[in-house]
Amino acid sequence: MRAAGEKIACLTCYDASFALIEDRAGVDLVLVGDSLGMVIHGGTTTTAVTVADVAYHSRAVAPHLKRAFLVADLPFLSFATRERALDASQRLMQEGGAKMVKLEGGREQADIVEYLSVRGVPVCAHLGLQPQLIHKMGAFKVQGRDSGAAEAMLHDARVLEDAGADLLLVECVPSELGKRITDAANVPVIGIGAGPDVSGQILVLQDILNISPMVTIGRKPRFVQNFMAGAADIESAVRAYVQAVKSGAYPAPEHCFS
Ligand code: KIV
Repeated sequence: MRAAGEKIACLTCYDASFALIEDRAGVDLVLVGDSLGMVIHGGTTTTAVTVADVAYHSRAVAPHLKRAFLVADLPFLSFATRERALDASQRLMQEGGAKMVKLEGGREQADIVEYLSVRGVPVCAHLGLQPQLIHKMGAFKVQGRDSGAAEAMLHDARVLEDAGADLLLVECVPSELGKRITDAANVPVIGIGAGPDVSGQILVLQDILNISPMVTIGRKPRFVQNFMAGAADIESAVRAYVQAVKSGAYPAPEHCFS
């Protein structure tokens, strides 16, 4: 799709009912994200999510995807060593039915990415804002704003791709950096708050339906658009999101960082 110039529409999902809807509505890539710790379990961070949790939700989603590609998150510390990363990936792929795993981190994860990749585990590397680092960072904030941090992230992207990452995901960075990473990469780059010039977009399902706890308490991230507004039902809202990603209508300037 990247080569064909078609934008990739990605969305999180955690259960069978929504998996059926997302697949029917034309979502290309479904992520069982560790965001489930916040939008399903009601936590304030993703720290408590376990491999068993992600495998459980992936198992609910996988059988209902006829065309969408399923990616599952490696949760906090589940990839702290090569062996743990391999065991966790095995569970997410064999029990959970995932076709790719996603892990957060920069060049420091290159060794793990390579270890998984050469053993047949497709990997998505998640750069930029890494919610699993919340207890080190103290707050969720835009990454790569100064030139040193931007160059470092660009370098991380290259190193991770060279290590075998098949997909990059970039969260909360200035649009210009999202574009630079995409231009430099050979694999698709999926953005969330990374501007319009990436290969595709991802959002959290509950955010686009305007029902996530963050949205409900009035703390809507800048990059979130409420696709329920004006939609007749949930499936129409998901279709509207897919169409907006494909046409480039989403993200609009008000969803982007500079
Ligand atoms: O856990 C998740 O849902 C994610 C997306 C927000 C990209 O990592």
